[in-house]
Amino acid sequence: MEVKIESIEDVSRLLETQGYISSIDIATIVYLAIKMQRPILVEGPAGVGKTELAKSLSRALSLELIQLQCYEGLDESKAIYEWEYAKQLLYTQILKEKISEVIGTTDDLNASIKKLVQLEDAFFSDHFLLARPLLKAIRSKERSVLLIDEVDKSDPEFEAYLLEILSTNEITIPELGTQVALKIPIVFLTSNNVRDLSDALKRRCLNLYIDFPSPELEIRIVTSKFPGLSKKLIQHLVQSIHNIRKLEIKKMPSISETLDWANALLTLQVEEITPEDLRKTLGIISKYKTDMDQIMEAADKVLGVSA
Ligand SMILES: Nc1ncnc2c1ncn2[C@@H]1O[C@H](COP(=O)(O)OP(=O)(O)OP(=O)(O)O)[C@@H](O)[C@H]1O
Ligand SMILES: [Mg+2]
Repeated sequence: MEVKIESIEDVSRLLETQGYISSIDIATIVYLAIKMQRPILVEGPAGVGKTELAKSLSRALSLELIQLQCYEGLDESKAIYEWEYAKQLLYTQILKEKISEVIGTTDDLNASIKKLVQLEDAFFSDHFLLARPLLKAIRSKERSVLLIDEVDKSDPEFEAYLLEILSTNEITIPELGTQVALKIPIVFLTSNNVRDLSDALKRRCLNLYIDFPSPELEIRIVTSKFPGLSKKLIQHLVQSIHNIRKLEIKKMPSISETLDWANALLTLQVEEITPEDLRKTLGIISKYKTDMDQIMEAADKVLGVSA
């Protein structure tokens, strides 16, 4: 049975049941997208929960998650559909052996041609069609959550197909005709801004920018994942991460780094984070040597010792 969503609060509550703690902005856009049946374009830095949002929503609503991972060179055959050549080839072989049986020997030419045309129809039928994520979502009898992940990595030509499908909610297969969406999926597109997306695609979507969370939100996220950590330690940890984000470093730690750090501190049974604890676990927060050096140089400021 489909879970009903009647308010923005319903969205945040349902996401929270799946461990996803949303800001009011996130819950509002998701609510509107569901009600207005529009795709959501989620942008923002790495590790802020863009992909997880779609996954959590699908679980919260008990809807199938259909995921399309985008990359350079992604084409229709991997995103929409392709014909199963190997199966068709096998069918040809069998047909070759059986052709006289199928056509029969007594038919005139016209009747034989008619039978051959029927065979060709079978060739381009559902039987030999391999539905890829976009077609799967359009054909799905139940509403699904369609996650088109990292769309900025695909080529602009592919984006044009995507726009067409998202605008019409239908896909045309020349040999089979037009497939109209049975249930319009809840669509998420995510982007890290590797390249700018077209204005037309942006216009089609409701835009959601997920930034690094506020300390309050990040504290809630860590608390929900690690209820065993003390409130004081979580506050200190989150504040330290926020201080690190103020430094001029190459790659700012994201929610995933915050969570990994929390996990490490829990594992090491740290009760109060000292500069030495920070140094020992620095590789979890940062992946760049220059960033690590900078964080250690500012260790007192980061941990709020000198503040
Ligand atoms: N609001 C949140 N509540 C709970 N967990 C979160 C939240 N945001 C992020 N996370 C956690 O942070 C991690 C990274 O999230 P996710 O993979 O969705 O990031 P992303 O924005 O898609 O990153 P990328 O751009 O690298 O793909 C996940 O483990 C996820 O569980
Ligand atoms: Mg992602």
